[in-house]
Amino acid sequence: LKTEALAALDAAQDESALEAVRVNFLGKKGSVTALSQGMKDVPVEQKKEVGAKLNEVRTAITEGIDAKKLALQAAQDAKAVEGIDITLPGRPGAGTGALHPLTQIRDLAIRTLRRMGFALAEGPEIETEWHCFDALNTPADHPARNEKDTFYLPDGRLLRTHTSSVQIRTMEAAKTLPIRIIAPGSAYRRDEIDATHLSVFNQLEGLYVSQDVSLGDLKGTLEYFFREIFGAGTAVRFRPHFFPFTEPSFEIDVKLEAKGKDARWIEIAGCGMVDPAVFAEINKARGDNLFDPETTTGFAFGLGLDRLAMIMHGITDIRHLIENDVRFLQQFAA
Ligand code: PHE
Repeated sequence: LKTEALAALDAAQDESALEAVRVNFLGKKGSVTALSQGMKDVPVEQKKEVGAKLNEVRTAITEGIDAKKLALQAAQDAKAVEGIDITLPGRPGAGTGALHPLTQIRDLAIRTLRRMGFALAEGPEIETEWHCFDALNTPADHPARNEKDTFYLPDGRLLRTHTSSVQIRTMEAAKTLPIRIIAPGSAYRRDEIDATHLSVFNQLEGLYVSQDVSLGDLKGTLEYFFREIFGAGTAVRFRPHFFPFTEPSFEIDVKLEAKGKDARWIEIAGCGMVDPAVFAEINKARGDNLFDPETTTGFAFGLGLDRLAMIMHGITDIRHLIENDVRFLQQFAA
C-alpha cells in the first residue's frame, strides 16, 4: 500500500492530483483509513505491531504529500518569474510616503524642548468649562467664552479653545514640584475660515512651575528655543500683552535672518508668568497647598504650530496644511 501510494504521489503533476491522492489513501473512505477501522478485528497480540506499521504508512504518505506540495510550489514559482529579471533593482522613491510638514515641525519642536528638560503631557480635546476657562482665571463674561467663538457641546462641555487646559490638568494631578511639561495638540475656535484661520489648529503648550522661576528664565528658554528652530540669527521680541492666566503676559514675535531686508516681525506665541490666582484655584480643587502662592512661581507659553510651519516654509495659506494635495506635500518629502 505504501509503495502504491508513493508511486501515485510521484505521478501527481498538480495540486488537484495531489489532493486526489490524499483523499484516496487518507480521506474518510481512503484505504489507509479503511485499514485503521479494521484494527478492531486484529487479535490483541498483533495489535501493537499492526498499529505501528499502519502509523508508519500514514506518516510516510503525509510526509510524501507535503514534500510534493513544496516541490510543485517551487516549480510554479520558477515558472512565474521566467522571463523576468528578478535581479533588477527597484525604482527608488516610487510611491514612498513622507511625514506631513506639520508633523515634521511638531516633532522638531518636541525634540528640542525635551532636550531642554520638558516632558510630554496631554489632556482631552473635549473639556470642561472649568479646565478651559475658570481655572485659568477667565471671568464668566470674557469674550473668548462666547458661543460665537467657542464650540459648546449640548452637555455644557466644549472643544478646548487652547492647550492651556493641559496646564490645569497637569497641576491638578501633580504629586511634587517642579513641573516642566509641554503639550502639543489641537485647539478649536469658531473662526471664519480664510488664509490664516481654520476652525481647528495646532498649539504647543509649555509649563514650568517651581520655586524662583523668573521672567529671565522664561525669556532665556524661549529665545533659545526659537534660535534652535529658526537659526542662530533669529531676532526674538517680547511685546507686553494680556492673558487672564499669566501676569505679566507677552506676545512673542520672531524675525528670521534668512529673509534679509524685507524681514518682518511675525507673532508666534503667547506667554507669561503664571498668575497666582491660578495656583490658588488649583490648591482649592486639590484640597492642599502644593502650589503655595507665597513660594511657587512659574511660566507658561503657547505657540502656534501651524504658524511655525508657515513661517518656516513660507506657506501663505493655512488651508494648504489640511488639503492633502500631493503637489504641495511632495515639497516636504525628505
Ligand atoms: N492660551 C493662549 C492662547 O491660546 C496662549 C498662552 C499660553 C498665553 C500660555 C500665555 C501662556 O492664545
